[in-house]
This record gives sequence, C-alpha cells and structure tokens, in this order.
Amino acid sequence: MPTMTKSPLAAGNLYGLTDEQLQLQEMVREFVKREVAPHAAEIDETERFPVETFKKLGQLGLMGIPVPAEYGGAGSDTMSYVLAVEEIAKACGSTGLSFAAHISLGSMPLVYFGTEEQKKKWLPYVTSGEFMGSWALTEPQAGSDASRQQTVAVREGDSWVLNGRKTFITNAPYARYVIVMAMTDKSKGNKGISSFIVPTDTPGFSVSKHEHKMGMRGSPTTELTFENVRLPADCMISEEGSGFKQAMKTLDGGRISIAALALGIATGAFEVALAYAKEREAFGQTIGSFQLVQAMLADAATELHAARLMIYHAARLKDANLPHTQAGAQAKLYASEVSARVTANAVQILGGYGYLKDFPVERMMRDSKLCEIGEGTSQIQRIVIARNLGL
Ligand code: CAA
Repeated sequence: MPTMTKSPLAAGNLYGLTDEQLQLQEMVREFVKREVAPHAAEIDETERFPVETFKKLGQLGLMGIPVPAEYGGAGSDTMSYVLAVEEIAKACGSTGLSFAAHISLGSMPLVYFGTEEQKKKWLPYVTSGEFMGSWALTEPQAGSDASRQQTVAVREGDSWVLNGRKTFITNAPYARYVIVMAMTDKSKGNKGISSFIVPTDTPGFSVSKHEHKMGMRGSPTTELTFENVRLPADCMISEEGSGFKQAMKTLDGGRISIAALALGIATGAFEVALAYAKEREAFGQTIGSFQLVQAMLADAATELHAARLMIYHAARLKDANLPHTQAGAQAKLYASEVSARVTANAVQILGGYGYLKDFPVERMMRDSKLCEIGEGTSQIQRIVIARNLGL
C-alpha cells in the first residue's frame, strides 16, 4: 500500500501556515481584540493617531516582524508580516495602514539597501516601536509618474543639501527619520534619483500640512518641506543614482502588504455582514435566507479566498527570494478591488444601518478605497503586470 504523506493543509490550517506563523497570527488576533478594535471608531472620528498602540506592538516585538534580529527585529518572514497586517486591518484600517507603511516603506529599504552602520544606527528606533517608519517618494507633480522628482539634493563638500516638497506621506510626524527620494542629477532622469535618510530633527525639515481624508483617518498623512536640509554624506542609502530602483523594489514588497490591508478590511466587513444576515429578519425570515443576499455573501467568501491565496502566494515568493513584482501587483490589484466590492455590499446588506456610524461597515468602505490608490493605483498595477508580460 502506498504511504499517505501528511498534508500541510490540516483542518483549521487551510492555508498551510507553519506553527510559528499560526502562533503569531493568534498573538496578533488577541492583541487586536484587546487594544485595536475598541479604538477603531474613535480614531476614525477624531483623526487621532493611536501612538500608544504602536508602543505596545513594539513591546510585543511586532514592529519589526521581517527585520533581522541583530537590528532589533523579530527575524521572521514576509508571510508572518502579511498575516499581522491582515489581522490588524480586520478591526482597524488606519492602524493597519500605519503598521504596513512603517514596516514595508519605513524599515525595509534600510534592510535591503542600507550599510551595516546605517542598519545598526537607525533600525532600532523603529523596531522598538519608539518611532514610526516613514518613506517619501510622492510629490505634488510626481505621483504615478514617480520618476518626475522635483526634490533636489546638491552635493556641497561632504554634505548633501535637500530642497523640495513631498506629499501624501504616512507616519512622518511620529518618525525619527524619513527615507527620502531626491534628484541628484536631473540630466540622468530616473537614474539621477538617490535616496537619503533624513533625521526629522535636521534644521530645514518640517511637516508642513496635515491632510484630512475620506478614510484611514487615524493614520497621519502629511506634506513635508525641505528647506536647505543639510545631511552628512553617510545619509545616502546605497549608491548615488540608485534611488528609483530602490523605490520600485521597496514598492514590490509594499504592495503585498497593501493587498493584505485590503483583505483584512474586507474580511472584517464580511464578518459583520454575515452575522447580521443570520440575525436580521424581514418578511418573517432572516435576510440570510434570501438568495439575493446569499449571492452577495457567497461571492464575497469566494473572492476573499482567492485574494488570500494570491497574497500568501506573493508573500511566499518573496520569502523564497523569487521574483514577486507581478505576483505582488496582481495581489494588490485583485484584493483592493475585491475589498471595494465586499465592503460596499456589506453596507448594502446592513441597509440603513450600514449607512450609520453605529456599525463599522461604512468606515470599512471608506478605508478600503485607499487600497486602490496608495502604493500605486489599480491602473499602475495593470501597467506593472502588462510590462511583466513583455508588453
Ligand atoms: N524592480 C527593479 N527595477 C525596476 C522595477 C522593479 N520592480 N520596476 C522598474 N524598474 C527599473 C526598470 O527596469 C528600469 O531600469 P533600466 O532603466 O535600467 O532599464 C527603471 O527602473 C525605470 O523603469 P520604467 O521605465 O518602467 O519606469 P517608469 O518611469 O515608466 O515608471 C512605474 C514605472 C511602474 C509607472 C512607476 O513609476 C511606478 O510604480 N509608479 C507608481 C509609484 C507609486 O506606487 N507611488 C506610491 C508611493 S507611496 C508614498 O509615496 C508615500 C506613503 O507614505 C504611502
């Protein structure tokens, strides 16, 4: 008789997670129930950044999940990180967004491209949860067209002097440093862009405007201004001119986490709508017994499952050091569009109640929209996918 190999897809572990990943997922789930969910409505309403939540995440060792242990991280994998984003976002999109930007954008570029000295000096600030990670690429005239950087860095002796403006930057008011892309040689186009560590106490650096958003209102989005910001030469990350490629590689990873953010938000909305459909009665029966409501929930369950498979697959590719640009863009494109549909249908299933702030689904619908825009719009994801198809 052939021997049966034990399937990794045990009951209760349908996505084949390792014991460590399951433990981390459970730990984050417990934390979210206790520390994140109770504040989600309030931070949305008041546009308050829940700084205390991030300090506690730091104490639990979760602020640097994929950062190597020698720099204060947990030395874990992308998959574990993605699971954490998903769990946080089920309850609170804002907290999930700040957490994802902190790790993917504010921490990982140093892990990927920094020198040993830079990693040792700067990463402990963020892995401890004392400060938030922040990263600045976008400018008023350089959003989707990221290579059109107008922020300039000019070499003066041993220093670089930065002037310019960044916009739509997450977490900067709570950061010890911001990783900033700037043009060091305009004549070279995207090959003239370099990246810098800008300590936020450097004279000339300022957080110049706080944006008021439709969703993700508990996650700070600000404009940054650089006026003759003088930096020592060792604040440049990797080689001069490598900033654009660093940014693209950073976004390859970041997009997987935004997909997980979209998935988490949508799963949160789905769970509320499913419970409501099982309880709410109309015409003498629960609304979940009507086929039109069933169809919305059945489609949502199917699409969430497909999104989750795509996201976990992209994370596993990244963990295996395999190309993941296309898989990440596909996961983000699909998950964010699923999230928009699922959250809108959750509002629909709750009817008038869905439109009230008494239930979380209207917030989830607003938060979800960001996932189709941030770290590259759905249109940009399609361009990235098409280019990877050789078009
Ligand atoms: N990995 C490595 N290299 C890459 C790459 C990747 N994923 N993608 C592109 N490159 C390389 C190319 O190979 C090319 O190199 P060569 O010149 O040596 O051949 C170089 O980079 C230029 O590539 P493109 O010609 O494709 O560049 P492009 O100007 O046409 O732009 C784009 C491509 C995909 C549209 C890109 O501009 C893009 O991703 N735009 C969206 C930017 C974005 O997501 N912004 C959100 C930022 S979030 C933020 O700022 C703040 C926050 O807090 C959230």
